[in-house]
Amino acid sequence: CGIVGYIGKRDVAPLLLEGLQRLEYRGYDSAGLAIQGKPAKGAQSAGLKTAKAKGRVRDLEARLPKRFAGTTGIAHTRWATHGAPNDINAHPHLDADGKVAVVHNGIIDNAADLRAKLAADGVELVSDTDSEALAHLIGRSQAPTLEEKVRHALAMVEGTYGIAVLHADFPDRIVVARNGSPVVLGIGEKEMFVASDVAALVSHTRQVVTLDDGEMATLKADDYRTYTTEGSRTSTSPTTVEWEAESYDMGGHDTYMHKEIHEQVDAVDRVLRGRIDDRFSTVHLGGLNLDAREARGVRRVKILGCGSAYHTGLIGAQLIEELARIPADAEPASEFRYRNPVVDPDTLYIAVSQSGETYDTLAAVQELKRKGARVLGVINVVGSAIARETDGGVYVHAGPEVCVVSTKCFTNTAVAFALLALHLGRIRDLSVADGKRIIAGLRKLPEQIAEVLRGEEEIKKLATEYANAKSMMFVGRVRGYPVAREASLKLKEVSYVHAEAYPASELKHGPLALIEPEVPTVAVLPDDDLLEKNRATLEEIKARSGRILAVAHREQAKADHTIVVPRNEVELDPILMGIPLQLLAYHTALALGRDIDKPRNLAKSVTVE
Ligand code: G6P
Repeated sequence: CGIVGYIGKRDVAPLLLEGLQRLEYRGYDSAGLAIQGKPAKGAQSAGLKTAKAKGRVRDLEARLPKRFAGTTGIAHTRWATHGAPNDINAHPHLDADGKVAVVHNGIIDNAADLRAKLAADGVELVSDTDSEALAHLIGRSQAPTLEEKVRHALAMVEGTYGIAVLHADFPDRIVVARNGSPVVLGIGEKEMFVASDVAALVSHTRQVVTLDDGEMATLKADDYRTYTTEGSRTSTSPTTVEWEAESYDMGGHDTYMHKEIHEQVDAVDRVLRGRIDDRFSTVHLGGLNLDAREARGVRRVKILGCGSAYHTGLIGAQLIEELARIPADAEPASEFRYRNPVVDPDTLYIAVSQSGETYDTLAAVQELKRKGARVLGVINVVGSAIARETDGGVYVHAGPEVCVVSTKCFTNTAVAFALLALHLGRIRDLSVADGKRIIAGLRKLPEQIAEVLRGEEEIKKLATEYANAKSMMFVGRVRGYPVAREASLKLKEVSYVHAEAYPASELKHGPLALIEPEVPTVAVLPDDDLLEKNRATLEEIKARSGRILAVAHREQAKADHTIVVPRNEVELDPILMGIPLQLLAYHTALALGRDIDKPRNLAKSVTVE
């Protein structure tokens, strides 16, 4: 979900709609806004006006009444958790008198209790949402100020929230609060913004204040102040966001996904920049906060993340084992946090996340910190919740990623892991010669990515040919396996074609039963010491009249088609081999007429459990 708010002198509705559009990738099943109406001469307030619509921001825009003037307002784009996506469940939610409007990200865990209590007190709840209860609690508070009313309501709430509140009786302010769901203030000249993501702010101001959990803020047109939910003042000074507003534009591409796939050449260059140390054949990672002695004491590495981030973790674990010879593995953050894991003092934990906000990953980090573990982050968004919660780490520098499915951030994260693995390796056993070899390989990546992208037309043809598959199988061995996992996820997310990924060797233990001409296999076949084994897998598939699309370093006779990618160092193969498969997913989705940047049912950042 996404939140945006504004208080100042400008006409607020267009500003809110623009902000919502920039946040739409975070959730997009319904949207709404509330504004303080323009008071008549002499009057203090004109009451709130709201508009909501199921569907996209453009549906909301179409529905806005002609006269919707005002200079203070809040808005929301939703990704449903409680209650189906429809007009009524869309935010903002109002209290019974229509004086309070609330937009909310997160989940109120005790919503059922609160709703029941409100109903017992005779309050008529109109929506099915957990968020509506908040509006009523604020509206019913007898406290004299809006800040106290909000504080009073939040004291009754269990769960996570990022909220923004308007009150008809307090038209000079917006009150916001954060617990587990991001809230960022944008500080302008005689105007203030608030949003759940800097994406909605950067076209207006680059001065931002990120609230901490348990923090609230009051925004007035020419002033803001922050304080804890208990009421004591906190001191915050704005920081400057690095990302340019233009990075959020489509830049001549038809979709963000296409743009972001093509940005990888520059993005990989960026993650390498300033970090390579040729003199000692290693890399400098300024924010790691792990000295050589500590690095030598690490006995295991455990990487945690969700979705594509988890898949980069699988690649990262292999790189760390290969280059640093430390046992390493990756696990979905959500599984980890729910299974009461043994937290071992000699293990280095690494949280990986594009947004730095994914709730399951954040919760895993918090649990680890409570148990005294050392946790690093491999994160894209600077200053995000996970970045702030970890002890140090490596920023991925992919720039803003807008398309729901991850492409450039996936690749950059894998490169960031290669840097980390090389760094740890050179502190431990990796030789100077191997360090040099990997550095040379990393330097070749941008040009090799460009070479893969030049083959787009060919991949487009293949995508059209395979687009009608009933289901697709993705296989790989060791270095090829995480690539197969990610490619399969990518295809599912964006094209809705069912896909499964298996280690190539596991095919014969079950999934081979599914192979038929309508179920083609994508085989990831690096030219490493496992190529012969992989060829045997191709034989197994061919013998069951399965079709094969290979991604390899040279033509594969057993495959129906081969996408040839340039050779690099074997350890870095997974990074390059994933790229043509991003294009395959993209062009399959295009051929099937899918909504590429906003696949159904998904959101870019899942800030709920
Ligand atoms: C969501 C997205 C995925 C993403 C995952 C983790 O589920 O749909 O594409 O990989 O979250 O996001 P993160 O921001 O933590 O990398």
